[in-house]
Amino acid sequence: MGQKAIRFGVVGLGMGRHHCVAINNARGAELAAICDKHPGRLAEREKEFKIKAYQDYAAMLKDPDIDVVSIVTESSTHADLGIAAVKAGKHILVEKPVDITPARINKLERAVAAAGVKCGCIFQARMEPCSIALKKAIEKGKMGRMIGMHGTLPWYRGDDYFLGPFGPWRGTWTIDGGGSMMNQGIHTIDQLIFLGGPVKRVCGFYDVFNHNIEAEDLAVACLQYENGALGTVFTTTCANPGGPQTVYGFGTKGSFRKAGALLTSYEMGGKAERKRMMEKFGDTDTNPDASKDAMAVALDGHTMLMEDMARAIKQDREPIISLAQARHAVEVVCAVYKAANTGRTIEVARMPGARATAS
Ligand SMILES: NC(=O)c1ccc[n+]([C@@H]2O[C@H](COP(=O)([O-])OP(=O)(O)OC[C@H]3O[C@@H](n4cnc5c(N)ncnc54)[C@H](O)[C@@H]3O)[C@@H](O)[C@H]2O)c1
Repeated sequence: MGQKAIRFGVVGLGMGRHHCVAINNARGAELAAICDKHPGRLAEREKEFKIKAYQDYAAMLKDPDIDVVSIVTESSTHADLGIAAVKAGKHILVEKPVDITPARINKLERAVAAAGVKCGCIFQARMEPCSIALKKAIEKGKMGRMIGMHGTLPWYRGDDYFLGPFGPWRGTWTIDGGGSMMNQGIHTIDQLIFLGGPVKRVCGFYDVFNHNIEAEDLAVACLQYENGALGTVFTTTCANPGGPQTVYGFGTKGSFRKAGALLTSYEMGGKAERKRMMEKFGDTDTNPDASKDAMAVALDGHTMLMEDMARAIKQDREPIISLAQARHAVEVVCAVYKAANTGRTIEVARMPGARATAS
């Protein structure tokens, strides 16, 4: 494919608008087409991006000028739309959560393998320089043996968010797959996996407190990691005013704390390393604040993931966040809901062979 840009088609133009901007900003990627079944939304984005626009997804999939389909529709539609795209010979990039159950994701994985195409996933916080640096430090053993990982997501979403401009799918079990933990808190769960490793078993509680929605607006869980560490997680859309997602980890030799994309504490390595890490990652958080506004999502992570997707296709390798990696967060969230529904501790269902790839 040489230096030719990889051409993206984006389906779903809510958050998909961010994908369009990120693709336009990404090196080696090019926005080739957009698609939304809602004519008004499609017309607005067509005017903004001046690009080929499809109301019919099947018609976009027939377009030979598209290499990758970026899937940014309601969460429970990702696997089905992904399967249609890979059957049409397209690579796919899928927004979080990959879909709302491990079974659907496994079906998508089989279709991707059969088609021999690439499937990349979005968890933009994995691309934050602070997350990458922390992961390297943990892998080098600077924290010692991991003991505890803790995450909180104290966000606020008003009633209008759940009513949605195009139908009230958010906070439903059937389309969103849950509430504060499956939709918003899955970012926190994924950070806890990325930095802490695969989760073995969970227990948890959830309830709906301050929204007129079916699924929960507050969930808590205890996690036991495969490496033996213990963890806790708290996610809500009721925290008014909201605050940044925080992730805190500690081991036998050190600890860290992260708020949003900002490093707020780094207690590992020598004095010089601590100073360097805090100077480099401690005051660089220029990200928009998604704690109150669902669309205030930083673009850098998405842009990097678009660039990586384009490179993965050219280099014939797995995208940096593979489907096997992104699936584990859904496995954990589903296990937390099951634990809360049954009052039991639940073993997290893992795909055979996924053990080595979750982080
Ligand atoms: N990474 C992040 O930080 C982030 C932020 C927000 C949303 N998201 C994810 O993005 C996805 C979309 O969320 P949203 O807030 O943009 O939802 P939304 O309801 O605003 O937009 C979904 C769009 O998809 C379109 N659509 C659905 N099925 C279609 C089809 N078959 N053909 C064409 N168009 C179709 C709808 O018409 C709608 O315009 C969700 O999975 C959500 O979890 C991720």
